[in-house]
Order: sequence, then structure tokens, then C-alpha cells
Amino acid sequence: MDIKELFTRSFGYRPEVIASAPGRVNLIGEHIDYSQGYVLPFAIDAVTKCAIAVRSDRRIRIISAQKENEIIESNLGNIAVKQGSAWSKYVYGVIWAMEIDSGLDIHVDGRVPLGAGLSSSAALECSLATALDHLFHLERSPVELARLAQRAENDYVGVPCGIMDQSISLMGRAGYGLLLDCQDLSTRHVKIDFAAQNLKLLIIDTQVHHALSDGGYAKRRQSCEQVAKIFSIPSLRQLSMVNLLAHKSKLSDIEFKRARHGVSEMARVLEAVEVLEGKDFGALGQLLNRSHDSLRDDYEVSCPELDLAVTTALKGGALGARMVGGGFGGSAIALINEGDAGAISLAIERAFAGKGFKAPRFFDSLPSDGAKVIS
Ligand code: GLA
Repeated sequence: MDIKELFTRSFGYRPEVIASAPGRVNLIGEHIDYSQGYVLPFAIDAVTKCAIAVRSDRRIRIISAQKENEIIESNLGNIAVKQGSAWSKYVYGVIWAMEIDSGLDIHVDGRVPLGAGLSSSAALECSLATALDHLFHLERSPVELARLAQRAENDYVGVPCGIMDQSISLMGRAGYGLLLDCQDLSTRHVKIDFAAQNLKLLIIDTQVHHALSDGGYAKRRQSCEQVAKIFSIPSLRQLSMVNLLAHKSKLSDIEFKRARHGVSEMARVLEAVEVLEGKDFGALGQLLNRSHDSLRDDYEVSCPELDLAVTTALKGGALGARMVGGGFGGSAIALINEGDAGAISLAIERAFAGKGFKAPRFFDSLPSDGAKVIS
């Protein structure tokens, strides 16, 4: 059943607006959005849709197709004091951040796999932000909407995420990655044409569920902020590798490693753009590998399942592979020859079974469009 029918069945009348927003894969540029770095994500074809109508009172009713269509009721007064539990907080957070002052009926249908590190939460936030922007004629730019969605997640849900996921969900373009400069939020679309070279990006969901609110993410972020403080600079973006190495003694071992990841990853993103534009996919693969090594050894956000997915993909002939997203679980990506997809997936499945790990899931997606109003 489509979202319009779902809404109409649940609430007994028709929605006024329907919008969708995708999840994402980050090609490269991990854990540096909050250090004002460059990132290069692309939107995937899995989306979250929402249908909304304005109510004449101050009640908020929300329903998710993934939660057995149970109605969660609240009102604007509760939202102002940041109430709500689990997933409903993402919905309330967007209403709060956008300062919507009207009751609403909302139906959500989220098809971005949950807990897979593919940004299902940003997809939810951005579909709502897009729909509400349209419904109330707010005419906010994608960058403003990204900031509002991030604010919902930071200050309402309580997850200290950066701005990458919301930006790509709102600004993705089919066939392109988004080079986002997290210092000034300027963007450039970079063509990603794997298919023309018979390549594809395999997404391997380890099924290890991570929660950004668990503390590991916040700690990494704090280390980066601490290093910036020690160097008296706004963020790692202003730190060069030469400077970092020259002043290593000012930092603890952990701080040095965290900073080395941040500074080296920013450089890898710019190199990745160059090699993508030059269609040098072998070099791109190498950059993915170096990114993974750095995330595993310096940033310490990988886990045995992610490492096994990466090494097995490489053994099977992948040009490069790495973990994506916040880490501690979630997904890895592998750049592979199209013809190897079956054999590599099987090898990973077997390797996981051999270690007694939960069976992984596999996805693939071409770079897809960002959020839109459907009707
Ligand atoms: C999560 C956060 C992003 C980003 C990544 C790591 O997805 O939401 O802001 O920090 O982790 O690159």
C-alpha cells in the first residue's frame, strides 16, 4: 500500500503533502564532518516517505508503517518540553526545530534499513523537514533544512552527530556524490560512474547494531575538539599533518591518533575527488583501504565484523573496501567488479558463519536523488 493510502486508511481523510528522503552511503570522509572537514557521500535508492496533514487543534498523531500502524499521540505542549520516546523523538525533534505551531497528523513509511549505518534517522528527519517546509510555505534552502534536521537530532534526540547525513539526504543527485565542505557547507556534485567501468559498490550490513548515543561517538568527537583547543584552532580542519607531527608531544597518544585520522582523512577525500574525476578506480580503491585502516587503527571505531567484511572482500578481488558511518557496527562498502558480486557476497557470508557472527545482509545502490516533495 502506498503512503497516501496508508494515511487515508489510518486517519480517515487525505494527506496534504507527501515527501520522501533517502538514506546514504559515505564513499569517503568518515568522522570528519564535525571537524569541519570534507565528506563525499551519496544518496541511496532506499527512502523514507511521510504524509502529513494539518489539524485544527494542537494534537500531534504519528503512525509508522514499520510499527504496526500504532497511533502515538501527543500535543505541541509536550513537544516544547522535549517529550517522546525512541523513534517518535525524531519526529517531534523536527517539529520542534522548525518551530511548527500547529497540530499535525503524520504517517511515516521508512524503507531505509534500520541500524545498518545507512542513515535511516536522517532520512526520517529530512522527509519530515521537506514535507513541513512545503506545507507551511517556509521556503528554506536545503542547507537551512539540513541545519534544522541536525539540530533536531543534536538538541532534541540528544545524538551529537555532524551534518553530513542530513545534507546528503537533502542534496543528493542521481549519478553523483556530494562533495560537502563542512566548514561553510558549500557543495559540489562529483560524478560517480562505477557502472560504466563494470564496477559496483557492494554494501555489506554486518547486522551489528550500533547506537551513536552509546558514547563512543561522542568521545571521538570530544578528542578532536580537545586537540583543536590545544592547538588554539577552531577545528582539525585548520591543522596540517606537518604541524600535527611537529607538535606531537603536546598530545596524549590517543589524541594524536584521533587527530591523525582526522587530518589524513580530509586529504583522502580531496584525492578521492581527483581520482574519481580521472576515472582511476584502482587509486580510489587504495584510498578506501587507507581510510579503513585509519578508522580501525587510529580512530578505533571498527569492529571484528566490519574488519572481516573488508578483508574478505579484498581477498575476493575488491578494488578497495572500508567501514562506513559512525562505526562500531553498521555497514562496510566494497568497490568490486560487477561479475564478482555473487562470489564475494558468498565468501563474506561463509567467513561470518565461520566466526559464529550473525549472517550479514547485502545491498547495492546507485547514487540517487535527494529529498523531494512527491505530491
Ligand atoms: C554518523 C553521523 C555523521 C558522521 C558519521 C561519521 O553517521 O551522523 O554526522 O559523523 O557518523 O562519518
